[in-house]
Amino acid sequence: MKTLVVYSSQTNNTKRLAEAAATALNAEMVSVGAAGDISNYDHIAVGFWFKGGGPDPATQDFLPKLSGKKAFLFATHGGAANSTHVKNGMNKARDLAAGATVAGSFSCPGEVPVKVQAAIAEKNPNAPWLPDAPAATGHPDEKDLSDLRKALRDSFS
Ligand SMILES: Cc1cc2nc3c(=O)[nH]c(=O)nc-3n(C[C@H](O)[C@H](O)[C@H](O)COP(=O)(O)O)c2cc1C
Repeated sequence: MKTLVVYSSQTNNTKRLAEAAATALNAEMVSVGAAGDISNYDHIAVGFWFKGGGPDPATQDFLPKLSGKKAFLFATHGGAANSTHVKNGMNKARDLAAGATVAGSFSCPGEVPVKVQAAIAEKNPNAPWLPDAPAATGHPDEKDLSDLRKALRDSFS
């Protein structure tokens, strides 16, 4: 079984999850922009960051290409992990990957720099995830990484 980890990350929160996943799975890792032909891989773990309530645009383009694969989806977000906002966003990712067998998923908060929170508050003060963003400070942390490893073990074994 060949496994690939594909990730999208602007400020490295999701990249940290991707690195932990690649190590745990003994898999190659590639950024979504550099992911070329994936036909040689049986299992693909895809990591993305939330933008506009769902996967970032580059990942939205990539997810439909998982058709026929066994996939695992993981993400970081400024919102709370158990919020409707995040559940809906993860469902959007599953919908985009509808041609794949999604064996599991994981998400956790990812730190949103204070300046970014301020900029978003100015542009889109009603963003539903914004009130939870301060609590994302310090994430992903060691527990997030260990929870990700456990979810991967349960899904990709
Ligand atoms: C422009 C922008 C839009 C964002 N939109 C959302 C969003 O809709 N929902 C959310 O929960 N977090 C949102 N976030 C927070 C990021 O998803 C979060 O900080 C994530 O961990 C960033 O991941 P990265 O470091 O891998 O780029 C947004 C951040 C930015 C900069």
